[in-house]
Parts: sequence; structure tokens; C-alpha cells
Amino acid sequence: MKIGLISDLHTDATEANKAIVPFLIDAIKAAELDIFILAGDVTPKLSEFYEVLGEFADADLACQKLFVPGNHDIWVGKKANMTSEQKCGVLSEICQDHGFHSLMDTPYVVDKIGFCGTIGWYDYTYASDKYHFTTEQYAEKQLMKSVWSDKLYAKWSDIDENIAHRFEKELEQQIHSIKNTVQRIVVVTHHVPFRECIRYREELPWDYFSAFMGSEGLGRICLQEPLVSHALFGHTHNVVNQRVDNVRTICAPIGYLQETPLEKLRAFAEQRFTCFSLPNES
Ligand SMILES: [Fe+2]
Ligand SMILES: [Fe+2]
Repeated sequence: MKIGLISDLHTDATEANKAIVPFLIDAIKAAELDIFILAGDVTPKLSEFYEVLGEFADADLACQKLFVPGNHDIWVGKKANMTSEQKCGVLSEICQDHGFHSLMDTPYVVDKIGFCGTIGWYDYTYASDKYHFTTEQYAEKQLMKSVWSDKLYAKWSDIDENIAHRFEKELEQQIHSIKNTVQRIVVVTHHVPFRECIRYREELPWDYFSAFMGSEGLGRICLQEPLVSHALFGHTHNVVNQRVDNVRTICAPIGYLQETPLEKLRAFAEQRFTCFSLPNES
């Protein structure tokens, strides 16, 4: 089974971020995948989200498409009368309209391989070891005139720690619900599941903002179930492809393309789009 991963399209960020989508679709087609995974951070704008998923739908890809939202996708405007939970529901409907299976809602199982997924969130367990901020300081989400934009636009009904733990629990329940029917599980999150995948720089404000990368609980859940062989994620705009214990971790983000010239987009799409194969289970 051949699986392809991409995340962090951020189509609202620059002209290049929007223009790269057709090149990505070309790369997906050329890869002849069985499963294509989009691991969040498409765009906060609902109309644009609809359009971008529409581009994938219009491409008539032969593979199954799976999706988890990113933190940018659940942002709500100041005037929008909607919580981030409600926006998750709207995103799921848009997924359905465009042939994407939303892993936040239910796991996807094919040929005895299960895919479980959640956006994940952060509970400050990735706080830097070097700098010692209090929980209150992390909850402020701003330091040295820099603001973590979730402070302004993520509107969950609870505090960060409880949101992170809610999504961890949902992931755990998904794994539990399929583990007796599959031979292998691939976990997909937007937030980072392992501290080993975070790059600290030993400087501020960078290391302060590392606390918003994800939660250790996500990784713990992957490690405690031996069927979990892969943890795929986004959110950090660094490429990751490394083992953590028995789990292969992969992050294949587009990120912000301020400095990528338009004529290099095809090559960049091909370079970031990451594929891997799983043996077919009998
Ligand atoms: Fe992102
Ligand atoms: Fe993100």
C-alpha cells in the first residue's frame, strides 16, 4: 500500500502557496498512491478551504483522500458567531463534499490497515528545558512582542490543556475501536506527537513558542499500542523523517513560501510531498 503525505499548504499566506496546489496534485497523480493524507493547515478562510479541497476533488485522484485539520483551519474570525469545535464540524462537511474522509470523525480501515487521526493540541509539555516560564505565561501566548495567533483566532470551549487531553482521548478511543480488526495502525495528527521531533534553538522567543507545537500524550498513545507503526503530522514547518522507538515519524510540510520563486514551485512540491509503502497485510 502506497501512502503520500503533505501538510501546511497555507494557501492564504502567499501567491506561491496558492499556486503550488496544482503541482502538488500532479505529484500525487504521478505517485500512483493508494492513500493521500492532508495533515492540516490549509487556510483559515472557509470559502478558500472549500475551493482548495475542490481542486483535489476535480483532479479525480484514484486514491482515497484522508484529512485532519490544523490549528489555522479551526480559526474563527472575531465577528464569526462560531466556536472552533463548530468550525471542525463545518470542515468535516466540506471534506465529505469533496471525497475526503475526515479522520477526526472516524478512523479509516482498508486491507487490515487502520488510520486514526486528530488535530491534537498543546498542553505545554513541550516547554523548553532551558527557560522556565509558568503555565500562566504560556497561557498568555505572547512574548517579546510576538503573539501566537491561536490566542486571537482559536476559540475552543476550554483551556489548552483540556483541549489537548480531549483530543488525546479521542485518538486513544479510535485506536481501541479498531485494534482487533487490523494488523497495523497509522496515526495522523496535525500537532507534533513527539518531543524528539521539536527543534529547540536555545533562544527566545523561539523556544517559548515551542510549547505550542503539540503534546507528549499524543506520542505516548502511539508508543503504547504496538500496532502503531507510523505517526504522521504537520504544524512544524520543518521536514521530519525519523524513528522514535518503533514508530516512524514523518512531517512533510509546505510552510510559508515567501522566498520560493514561482518557477521553482513544481520542484518544491515534488521535494516536500513524501511517499512511503507499507507491506500488504494478509
Ligand atoms: Fe502550519
Ligand atoms: Fe499548524
